[in-house]
Amino acid sequence: MQVQLKKWSAKDKMSLYNLCSTADRTYLPDRLPSPYTEKDAEFWLDFVSQAEDNDTDIFRAIVVDGRIVGSISVECKNDIFRTDSEIGFMVMPDYRNQGIATKAVAEIVSQAFNKLNVTRITAYVFEPNLASAKVLEKNGFVLEGRLRNAAIKGDKLYNILHYGLVK
Ligand SMILES: CC(C)(COP(=O)(O)OP(=O)(O)OC[C@H]1O[C@@H](n2cnc3c(N)ncnc32)[C@H](O)[C@@H]1OP(=O)(O)O)[C@@H](O)C(=O)NCCC(=O)NCCS
Repeated sequence: MQVQLKKWSAKDKMSLYNLCSTADRTYLPDRLPSPYTEKDAEFWLDFVSQAEDNDTDIFRAIVVDGRIVGSISVECKNDIFRTDSEIGFMVMPDYRNQGIATKAVAEIVSQAFNKLNVTRITAYVFEPNLASAKVLEKNGFVLEGRLRNAAIKGDKLYNILHYGLVK
């Protein structure tokens, strides 16, 4: 199975819509609109195409056998944290536990350290999200801290695991 990362294009609207409509949101930020609409997909693809021009962020579709099955990004932070960045990723439920995210993270880490002016990549993981922690650890990310009760989903507070990978 070949895992590839590709730039998003306006033609990917329905793939993005399908991905985000079926996403497991349990441990995702609330900024992902819910319910997800085709208009949300259009808005995001437009945002991403502009971001691609500024060399501070990388947004990619995760493609397996010609099908978009996930999304991954590295976004630069700003101000005194401008040499740091944040990684985020998701894979469709039907494609989990086949090593797809692990390969996608390896590839985008390589791209980020080559293309972006960053010295590290940070990941924030809900403590119960063991799959995400595993993906990061398999790529050399180190658990740097546990932010107690740092995030809220619905009315439940969660510890956030703070992971980092230094160039
Ligand atoms: C996290 C996520 C991206 C992982 O994608 P994936 O393609 O299934 O990841 P991989 O197959 O590369 O690796 C998953 C690893 O976690 C392990 N794993 C999965 N569920 C687990 C669980 N409940 N407990 C412990 N380990 C678990 C798998 O066995 C695998 O490890 P292995 O290769 O050593 O066997 C996917 O589950 C997802 O999209 N979740 C929803 C969105 C999300 O939480 N994103 C992360 C935000 S930080």
